Amino acid sequence: MVYNFSAGPAVLPKPVLERVQKELLNFNDTGMSILEISHRSPEFDAIMASAEQNLRTLMAIPDDYSVLFTQGGGSLAFSSVPMNFAHHKIALLDSGQWAKKAGKAAQKMGITVDTLSSTASQQYHTLPNLPVKIPADDYDYLHVTTNNTIEGLAFHQSDIDQLPKEWHLVADMSSNILAEPYDVSRYDVIFAGAQKNIAPAGLTIGIVKTALLDRVPDNVPEMMDWQLQISKNSMYNTPPVFDIYVANLVFEHLIAQGGVTAIYKHNQEQAARLYDYLDASTCFTAPVTKKNRSFTNIVFTTGDETKDQKIAVEATHAGLYYLGGHRSVGGLRASLYNAQTDDAITALIKFLQRYEGK
Ligand SMILES: Cc1ncc(COP(=O)(O)O)c(C=O)c1O
Repeated sequence: MVYNFSAGPAVLPKPVLERVQKELLNFNDTGMSILEISHRSPEFDAIMASAEQNLRTLMAIPDDYSVLFTQGGGSLAFSSVPMNFAHHKIALLDSGQWAKKAGKAAQKMGITVDTLSSTASQQYHTLPNLPVKIPADDYDYLHVTTNNTIEGLAFHQSDIDQLPKEWHLVADMSSNILAEPYDVSRYDVIFAGAQKNIAPAGLTIGIVKTALLDRVPDNVPEMMDWQLQISKNSMYNTPPVFDIYVANLVFEHLIAQGGVTAIYKHNQEQAARLYDYLDASTCFTAPVTKKNRSFTNIVFTTGDETKDQKIAVEATHAGLYYLGGHRSVGGLRASLYNAQTDDAITALIKFLQRYEGK
């Protein structure tokens, strides 16, 4: 048996993969594969409409928000979001390496980026403080990374709720979109690469308050222009047809499972099993402050990098894949995205217990 703990691209729901396999040669009795059909066909129009509607249902996206299916990953959004929606100055909460990268990309666009607080000096083991006294009017928006994939810590909606209401927020939800509930109405813009909880790599989700599209500057390059892309129903150019098809199947699967609230409960239970084991262990530690811990990326270590690397290799031999931490920080990391199975958690805990026993 193989268990996949990759941080992304990552495990997808088995029933979805089986359906893809079943339909691959003949999509919807067309006699053609989904890999072959035109994005200008009625078949794809139906997929696109369904994907948007299902995402709206799952995230309770208000009617005055638009949805974008695009490409370029979270990394392109680091540039396209400031290009579209920042006019002179943005604020940043430096909660991890992806937040830092987003800030750098905005700076390259000529935008001033003020890092309001950072926990870099604490190796991001805890979240930075929220801005309560700085006037929101000073900034076009505050950039927040809801889940810090590398360091394993998250802003939950309850953390975001502590921010003064007047702050305009842009959220990078790349690694926990649809894994826990977020109140979309609280954000001006949300973006997320699909390759962790939604689909194969190649698709990026954007959600934006529609009124903001009127203020997109004219000089934004076409492929990064959210106003243009949304006005063309995410089909200004050829969209990633297969990814959107898979995303739609994943959305249907999540809805059938009870939606994000049910998924979140399950994710919390899975993460608690692993954190409980790690917290009681005499061999491993989970360094992130308990209330800031991610439910999707569980970071842990023996405290000895050589040992950690050896464990990741031994784990692979035992069928537990991709447990090595991000190459920039080392240590160990288990990613428990929505499609992760309870059996995988059981197998991982047993493996770590065996190691600890030795
Ligand atoms: C939180 C976060 N933001 C952005 C990115 C960059 O995404 P991409 O590789 O899709 O550009 C990642 C990738 O893992 C991520 O975890």
